Amino acid sequence: MRIVVTGGAGYLGTHTSLSLIAAGHEVTVVDNFSNASRDAVRRTSDLAGSDIPVVEGDLLDRHLLEEIFAETRPDAVVHFAGLKSVGESNAQPLRYMTNNVSGTLQLLDAMDAASVRRIIFSSSATVYGVTETVPTPEDHPLSVTNPYGRTKLMTEDILRDLAASDPRWSIGILRYFNPVGAHPSAQIGEDPRGVPNNLVPFVGQVAVGRHEAVSVFGGDYPTPDGTGVRDYLHVMDLAEGHVAALDRIASRTGVDVWNLGTGRGYSVLEVIRMYAEVSGRPIPYRIVERRPGDVAVSYADASKAARDLGWRAVRSLREMIEDHWHWQDANPNGYDA
Ligand code: WQD
Repeated sequence: MRIVVTGGAGYLGTHTSLSLIAAGHEVTVVDNFSNASRDAVRRTSDLAGSDIPVVEGDLLDRHLLEEIFAETRPDAVVHFAGLKSVGESNAQPLRYMTNNVSGTLQLLDAMDAASVRRIIFSSSATVYGVTETVPTPEDHPLSVTNPYGRTKLMTEDILRDLAASDPRWSIGILRYFNPVGAHPSAQIGEDPRGVPNNLVPFVGQVAVGRHEAVSVFGGDYPTPDGTGVRDYLHVMDLAEGHVAALDRIASRTGVDVWNLGTGRGYSVLEVIRMYAEVSGRPIPYRIVERRPGDVAVSYADASKAARDLGWRAVRSLREMIEDHWHWQDANPNGYDA
């Protein structure tokens, strides 16, 4: 199928575009490059062995969207484009609502006008809020505690309303747990701007000497070693999950939702120790106060994706860390501008 990948120059967008092409799809990347680099798409094209068309633009530009759909006539959209920092969203809620929700509304309107009614939406486990049950299934109650999470939940609700109003839509909602790692070639990977909020990219920057120690946010959680437990997922597993979800929605209408996670959790200290072992570099850390808004434990019940999509995460934590380290070591300053 012809697929438009919004946010296709980003971390998840590049890796997913590569897997889509490997599965025989044609990809067009749309990105405003507010948090991604052209070099990332160039390298993804090299890995794919074909030039990936790139359209620079913003989902708020309705005219541009109409042009894109008229020219590419896509069969489906994989929608990653969005701002994604929990902390930043607390400081800039309107920017997050405009970019993530209004942008998606413009996208859906333009898709409908062009009779493109298949979409995979990039949601997040953050919509589960403070989880009552772990592992967490898709029918767990939804609640959000920050504007970023609210944009994800609002968009999910918009998609559910759309599917209920018009049976021609085929919608797959994917709730990611903690994507980490990089393509094993070390050519593409995660390249956060500024100081990384997320654990693994920060640990990688400690390993290459860009920071002197990891601040472990809390050592007094009710977990085996007192530090936070999360469901880390290799980005290539996540990418392959999108290919499987696209296959699923291509043959049916309606809306459905799947967790993308491994179904098991690792603590902050386990990640740090694995990184030190894999990289051979000391990873100093100090335990500090809990980060506001963090939950103690989060990991997926991943059985629905296995049942419906025939997809399971297959890469281990060691592979995630090895692939992240190879990317980090080969690209200490990330992509070229
Ligand atoms: C993981 C663990 C921290 C950094 C976030 C978003 C979520 C999704 C994934 C977008 C936690 C601890 C972290 C550090 C630390 N993003 N930590 N020191 O918070 O589970 O999820 O990213 O969809 O929406 O909330 O990921 O990598 O920030 O934290 O101790 O410098 O590492 O407390 O236990 P998180 P994370």
